[in-house]
Amino acid sequence: MEKKNIDWSSIGFGYIKTDKRYVSNYKNGAWDEGTLTDDANVVLSECAGVLQYAQTVFEGLKAYTTEDGRIVCFRPDLNASRMADSAKRLEMPAFPEDRFVKAVEETVRANAAYVPPYGSGATLYIRPYMFGSNPVIGVKPADEYQFRMFCTPVGPYFKGGAKPITIKVSDFDRAAPHGTGHIKAGLNYAMSLHAIVTAHQEGYDENMYLDAATRTKVEETGGANFIFVTKDGTVVTPKSNSILPSITRRSLMVVAEKYLGLKVEHREVYFDEVKDFAECGLCGTAAVISPVGKIVDHGKEICFPSGMEKMGPVIQKLYDTLTGIQMGRIEAPEGWIKEI
Ligand code: PLP
Ligand code: COI
Repeated sequence: MEKKNIDWSSIGFGYIKTDKRYVSNYKNGAWDEGTLTDDANVVLSECAGVLQYAQTVFEGLKAYTTEDGRIVCFRPDLNASRMADSAKRLEMPAFPEDRFVKAVEETVRANAAYVPPYGSGATLYIRPYMFGSNPVIGVKPADEYQFRMFCTPVGPYFKGGAKPITIKVSDFDRAAPHGTGHIKAGLNYAMSLHAIVTAHQEGYDENMYLDAATRTKVEETGGANFIFVTKDGTVVTPKSNSILPSITRRSLMVVAEKYLGLKVEHREVYFDEVKDFAECGLCGTAAVISPVGKIVDHGKEICFPSGMEKMGPVIQKLYDTLTGIQMGRIEAPEGWIKEI
């Protein structure tokens, strides 16, 4: 199959329209059979639930070309179940998980010409989402929903790729205790926009959010979980009920323990501890593993010994092993790789 004429190695994390997307509608208590369509536009009532009260949830996963030329996805079943959890929290009907995985297969297959070649540095980002579509004016859940899934080729989330980034400890909170921080709802991202624009204006790449109740514990960034490495090589990652349960982070915990023989701690991490870590990174589908060189808290700098030029040695090993598994260079644990 002929690939599209795209300069794969120069694309950033942006939207490029592809040929097909998947759509299914929920009405009278049931999802229709779903279909692929050429139509990239969504036409809605001016009063649609999503437009008035932000009733929308989404997911993000990637398809890769392996070293031997196959197209694969990474753990789409976990995105399916997390989207069902997100939907339930916003009083939306879950899209059946087996159908979610089938829709991933159909959408990627239909856009195979857009899956970046092996070694290009780009991947195909898949964005499933659903929203309340019928008119809603009193504050209540919609009765009708649309589930859609499109994909777009992407490059690195942070400009500069593997260069360490600088993070600001945000004065804003991302998620309330007992709120929606643990689900992938659009509303969590809407409220992070002012914080990220502020951080960028001040010259930072990202925000570190602290726990809203005490502002003493590390939560996550607007779009990724944190991983830290102690001076004796233990991988530490924050545990909280108000952060997104990152599939990349859960996978890295397995990679660290089972592939690299490292000790892993998934626990509350106090901001006071951060200055003692040797390495820091962000992990997520979009971020993959992005090294963090510096964290700044109201002018007080924490500079990790790994520096501002390259990834620290443990983060680099995690990166190499995870991407090796995703691109078929390293054997994956059972069920992690879904061939398209
Ligand atoms: N945290 C937030 C707030 C995110 O938006 C994401 C991205 O999906 C992640 C963490 C990383 O999750 P995952 O590894 O499942 O992509
Ligand atoms: C992802 O990593 O899939 C995300 O959703 C993070 C961000 C781009 C929203």
